[in-house]
Amino acid sequence: MEFSLINETIQHFEGDSVIVFCNSNTVFDDKNIQTLIELNHFESKSGKVLSLSLVAGFKSRQVIVAGLGDAPVNAKDYVKALNSVSVVLAEIKAKNLMIQSVEIKGFDESWVHKTTAKVMHNATYEVQKIGDDKKNSSIEHITIQSTMDHTQALIQGQAIADGMSLTRHLGDLPPNVCTPSYLADAAMSLAEEFNLECEVLEEADMDKLGMGSLLSVSKGSIELPKLISLSYQGNGNEKPIVLVGKGVTFDSGGISLKPGAGMDEMKYDMCGAACVLGTMRAIAQIKPNINLVVVVPAVENMPAHNASKPGDVVKSMSGQTIEILNTDAEGRLILCDALTYVKKFNPKVVIDVATLTGAVIIALGKHNSGLMSNDQDLADDIINASKTALDGVWQLPIEDEYDELLKSNFADMANIGGREAGSITAGCFLSRFTQDYRWAHLDIAGTAWLSGDKKGATGRPVSLLTQFILDKISV
Ligand code: BES
Ligand code: MN
Ligand code: ZN
Repeated sequence: MEFSLINETIQHFEGDSVIVFCNSNTVFDDKNIQTLIELNHFESKSGKVLSLSLVAGFKSRQVIVAGLGDAPVNAKDYVKALNSVSVVLAEIKAKNLMIQSVEIKGFDESWVHKTTAKVMHNATYEVQKIGDDKKNSSIEHITIQSTMDHTQALIQGQAIADGMSLTRHLGDLPPNVCTPSYLADAAMSLAEEFNLECEVLEEADMDKLGMGSLLSVSKGSIELPKLISLSYQGNGNEKPIVLVGKGVTFDSGGISLKPGAGMDEMKYDMCGAACVLGTMRAIAQIKPNINLVVVVPAVENMPAHNASKPGDVVKSMSGQTIEILNTDAEGRLILCDALTYVKKFNPKVVIDVATLTGAVIIALGKHNSGLMSNDQDLADDIINASKTALDGVWQLPIEDEYDELLKSNFADMANIGGREAGSITAGCFLSRFTQDYRWAHLDIAGTAWLSGDKKGATGRPVSLLTQFILDKISV
């Protein structure tokens, strides 16, 4: 799918379809369109679409009218409208279309173009069934109406959607395919395609580094653990932004086995890993002047005679000991060693991304990712980026009172804090390994995938993280 900008009236566009927007205050100068809208009793609510054919005065065959809700138009309504339009475009197999420019409350034209490219491209994602060839969307070219040249915005929007597509694809793969070695191979292919540096540590290497916590999770599985690092160098020796993604390619719970219902969805427990790889893809395509490192601890969590047992005590790379009271709280056990490991990159900031707790879904549902941080300026930057990217987060506190719940009689800490505030105690656990740098944690257990009829990876929060990184260069 290609995008371009044009300063022309929609009536003159000669492709298959033009997309025209309509908010609660719109009265079209074009009498034909205005009459057809009235005849069809079209309601200008966001999500509503009216498909018209062979409208007099229009060179394109199809005119798709999309509702935007109340004026001034808000950003979420615009995205909802684009998604509804995408459904119609797929039905009519449109190849070549033009999108009318719109004004969105609180954002400039370049944001509108970036978002349009991102949403339209992302809407064409399809699950790739095992054994099938990659299907391409019917859309070949989208022309966006614009008064100015915003080519960079289009490049960014497309790159973010390409990153999201990688994230969704990896997430949707079955867990017998997407194993820790598969993730390592995916990282190496990215490195080859974009000329990045890639290093994969094996079990023996991690053992030498003293990663007793990480290895305690993988030891019950036949799949060997991998610690993947991928670096993009766009600004000499500047300190890098480091992203760490939880890569549990299947989380059975281990000896603290999960209940059977819905357990298949624990293939998505590597969505943090998929997200940081997707973000790397987006950044490598945009090529900004920054340095970025992504690190993925990749393991499978299985029950076995040699798996960790509740009560086991392990020693992390940091030297701190951990009593494993629940083998299903495995994400923090692999992340803590990865978070100690990343000190070697001398990071400017570290953000970890993880499907860490079921509790965050109870707290925030499927709309916002949980955000925790040891640095309020960093948290604020992430919140701002999330507003631009329309990829929501909500901050939860990291405070001593919660941290105390991790007390153990047999080790420096336990790996669970009890029933209360489960997402926060998980964050507190991680914060014990991130004292040496500015750090934030995103709990994406609610946002990384959808369940039910719409089961599938969302590609979140690639858009947020890419925006966060891009915001760092413009200041
Ligand atoms: N991967 C899960 C978290 C999860 C659960 C994500 C359900 C999405 C849906 C994580 O490893 C886990 O099992 N966490 C436990 C922690 C508990 C044992 C303290 C949880 O949330 O139940
Ligand atoms: Mn678990
Ligand atoms: Zn897990």
